Amino acid sequence: MKKTVILIIDDDPAVRQVLADILEFKGYGTLVAKDGAEALSLMQANDIDLALIDLGLPDISGLDVLSRIKADHPSTAAIILTGNATLESAMDATSRGAFSYLQKPYDIDQLLLQIKRAIEKQQADLEHEKLNIQLLQAQKLESVGRLAAGIAHEINTPIQFISSNIAFLKEAFKESSHLITSLLELLESIKNGTVTEAQIKQNDDILAHLDWDYLQEEIPRAIDQSNDGLQRVASIVQAMKEFSHPGSKQKVNADLNQLIETTITISRNEWKYVATVDTDLDPELQPLPCLANEMGQVFLNLLVNAAHAIENQLGNNPEGNKGRITISTKQHDQHVEIRISDTGCGIPAHIHNKVFDPFFTTKDVGKGTGQGLTIAHDVIVGKHKGTLVFEAEPGSGTTFIIRLPRHQE
Ligand SMILES: Nc1ncnc2c1ncn2[C@@H]1O[C@H](COP(=O)(O)OP(=O)(O)OP(=O)(O)O)[C@@H](O)[C@H]1O
Ligand SMILES: [Mg+2]
Repeated sequence: MKKTVILIIDDDPAVRQVLADILEFKGYGTLVAKDGAEALSLMQANDIDLALIDLGLPDISGLDVLSRIKADHPSTAAIILTGNATLESAMDATSRGAFSYLQKPYDIDQLLLQIKRAIEKQQADLEHEKLNIQLLQAQKLESVGRLAAGIAHEINTPIQFISSNIAFLKEAFKESSHLITSLLELLESIKNGTVTEAQIKQNDDILAHLDWDYLQEEIPRAIDQSNDGLQRVASIVQAMKEFSHPGSKQKVNADLNQLIETTITISRNEWKYVATVDTDLDPELQPLPCLANEMGQVFLNLLVNAAHAIENQLGNNPEGNKGRITISTKQHDQHVEIRISDTGCGIPAHIHNKVFDPFFTTKDVGKGTGQGLTIAHDVIVGKHKGTLVFEAEPGSGTTFIIRLPRHQE
């Protein structure tokens, strides 16, 4: 197993030496830095698990070193050591991500215990992050699998009418070419002066049989309709490509309106039997730095939940009534607001504080596993520092409200 590496940052050479000796003796790997600049360059060049930071450094303040380490190496734990502790500086250090804060002279056993705990916590956080990523990927695969059947169906409908249009065009061309051949022969006879009554009648018969007025109207219509169908297929395929693209791990500028349209397209088969989807998307919406792929998954989770809630509310529904899902975006000064409303069953008050819990579901086996909102919360609040709340009236629907800061750190 790899040794845990600790970076000791202190301007006093004796302190550095003593600490390094003790920690090496305890089985840790150590590196030492005399000031902030050296510490930051050692951080760049090495894989460091924990930094012990003295507050009073000659160049950059210990708190600033802490902030830089946390920003560039978030998986490195940090403990602050200082000669002149105040409550204020201790709070400042913890708010900047330090695990703990020890006053000099400290008890060495106390320090060793803090180091052990800081590293355990760091590992637990990393494990948690890894699990979150796996959960998201699993849910993504599951939704792609479930959506695939619906998408095949969505593509099949236009393909079917394109096929019958092509069959019609083929027949129409055959008949028209028969007519044109006959007309060309007639023209030839007129030129030669050999035209006969019988030839004119034959032409009239072909023309009557062919119903040229009808074809003249129907051929362009069949072509237009086929074009629409092809465009529909192309947009579904494009949406599917966008949705299943692995996406960037970094935040990139994304058009949320477009992302919402894509999500609506690929999930059509999930909602079209129970609801209509209306959008009210802010045309002024600026691209927003985000993890587009994960955001798409959030919209999908909320949209599918809305469809299920409406289905639940409609019950047996022999008349084939439909509910309504409305998705809106609005740009404000500091944030963007996205609302997803449904006219479904609402969320009863006694489960309001449970819906975001992992694996909480009220749905039958096979319909829901209770991960949708957990993931949505993790993506919106955890990864984008936004908020995700809902307003729900039992019996008259639910609105989920996402607010995302426009300027991500
Ligand atoms: N729009 C909504 N209207 C009514 N109830 C909702 C709505 N969205 C979520 N819920 C309730 O919250 C529960 C948890 O939702 P969540 O999306 O986390 O899981 P799920 O939909 O049950 O399963 P999964 O999303 O994993 O397929 C749902 O089972 C449902 O009871
Ligand atoms: Mg769900």
